[in-house]
Amino acid sequence: MGDELKSVDQEQEKPERPCQLTRRYFLRAAGMSGAAAAMVSVPGYGPMMANTTSLPEKRIAKLSALEVDKPVNFTYPDKGSLCMLVKLGVPAGGGIGAEGDVVAFVATCPHMGTPLLRAYNAKHKGMGPCRTHLTRFDLTRYGIVISGHATESLPQIMLELREGEIYANGIRGLIYGRSANVV
Ligand code: FES
Repeated sequence: MGDELKSVDQEQEKPERPCQLTRRYFLRAAGMSGAAAAMVSVPGYGPMMANTTSLPEKRIAKLSALEVDKPVNFTYPDKGSLCMLVKLGVPAGGGIGAEGDVVAFVATCPHMGTPLLRAYNAKHKGMGPCRTHLTRFDLTRYGIVISGHATESLPQIMLELREGEIYANGIRGLIYGRSANVV
């Protein structure tokens, strides 16, 4: 019965063998891939890359004072932006220190701005669940969303280590509610 429902047009288009393309099949496929290529060249449809903003440097903590899974709260780049520095105990994207395991993130959910200061999850090396819509972020992988409503990664603080001191000097991503990371 399924065969009876196929249109004459579908039957005519169907190649006899998978490796044989009709002219019509070829042109249709070429048109679709061309459209996809055109979309990539349109602003907003290309690969989603988080912007990194270079910002004035701020000293955050002494590396030797950090303990695994014991977050240190701070504000950056201004007093209105709460952040969290943590030594994860496992290597992480953007991590500094001998083990590459020290990372820092803005502690505000990028979905709707819920504070995440007490949301560090030591077991999963993540942030969350956010208490508003339960989003979880993976701090070992640049703060990407693991589950939940948020569609953007947690903004990550760029860190630099000099003579045992940790400095913040930029942010990858945008702090929730801002059109620029500096107000
Ligand atoms: S505000 Fe955090 S998931 Fe919605």
